[in-house]
Amino acid sequence: MVKIAFFETKDYDKAAFAPYEKAGETEFIFFETKLTEMTADLAKGCDAVCVFVNDNVSAAVIDKLYEYGVKIIALRCAGFNNVDVRHAYGKIHVVRVPAYSPYAVAEHTMALLLTSIRRIHKAYIRTRDFNFSLNGMTGFDLHGKTVGVVGTGRIGRVFIDICRGFGMNVIAYDAFPAADSGINYVSLDELFEKSDIISLHCPLTDDTRHMIDAEAIEKMKKGVVILNTSRGALIDADALLDGIKARKVGAACLDVYEEEADLFFEDRSGHILNDELLARLISMPNVIVTSHQAFLTAEALNNIAETTMNNIRSYYENNGICDNELCFRDGRIDTLKKDRKEKCF
Ligand code: NAI
Repeated sequence: MVKIAFFETKDYDKAAFAPYEKAGETEFIFFETKLTEMTADLAKGCDAVCVFVNDNVSAAVIDKLYEYGVKIIALRCAGFNNVDVRHAYGKIHVVRVPAYSPYAVAEHTMALLLTSIRRIHKAYIRTRDFNFSLNGMTGFDLHGKTVGVVGTGRIGRVFIDICRGFGMNVIAYDAFPAADSGINYVSLDELFEKSDIISLHCPLTDDTRHMIDAEAIEKMKKGVVILNTSRGALIDADALLDGIKARKVGAACLDVYEEEADLFFEDRSGHILNDELLARLISMPNVIVTSHQAFLTAEALNNIAETTMNNIRSYYENNGICDNELCFRDGRIDTLKKDRKEKCF
């Protein structure tokens, strides 16, 4: 019997995982709370913990889980900046879902862009109030505009295809450009200088933290539209707000926010929001915020549940070998999904 503690779970997670619970083989325990040092005790007696983007799997949490005999940390997501993978090496295996639907995230990114520049969010509210005025609703054509895509992995490439379908001119920056991809790679500075729209699709690392800061915004075109469906800390939100107030940034669409962990995924409508920066950003007519929703499609949830359960099963049935393990070795994290022949440790 494999006992799995799920943290940060919502009704849609439970519904997606329910078909995979097999009597006598697996037992699922769902917690709404996030995994933190304080809540790690809930995993006592469990073989695996299953976590999401805002669970805090720090070294201290890993030490506690190890002490309780937890064997696997299964991420229900691709990004792993919230897990101290280096510290877990040799103690607990960390597995993830490298791709569940790049379409979900890329399509949400385009939905945000269209909503913003065609003022759909304004029109929805106006017409509900029988206000049929078009004043202030002027948008612009995407056709012929230059979009700069930062990160040309799974999601970035789907987004590039969507943009090409709109007749946009695509330029891209990637620290590891894909050979023979037909993508027009430029330097990050050139991308900042030439893009009408900038969309972030790279992971959050020490190198990419605050890649959009005051200096970067300074280099951009006046009126640039910034899209972030990747990770909040890619953008220095203070600098973004300054750029918006200075009319340099024309619009921002944010599915993620650096300080989202204590806010997103919860109904805070009856509360006083203590995050003044987020409140100010949301108050702007040219900012759209969604609460880390880009992944949320039926297809993605099913893929997440299926891959997560396969990852855990691999550990037990394949001698601990799992293609989706985040294996810390030789000073780096091996994230490549490939035909692993041996255990990580
Ligand atoms: P991926 O691993 O397929 O692609 C990431 C790309 O970023 C790679 O081409 C890589 O070479 C590039 N990259 C790495 N370091 C870079 C750097 N310093 N500068 C520029 N590019 C760099 O990842 P995928 O699946 O496309 O996901 C991208 C990001 O999207 C994830 O890291 C995650 O943070 C975010 N995400 C957000 C979701 C949401 O619901 N909002 C859902 C899923 C992922």
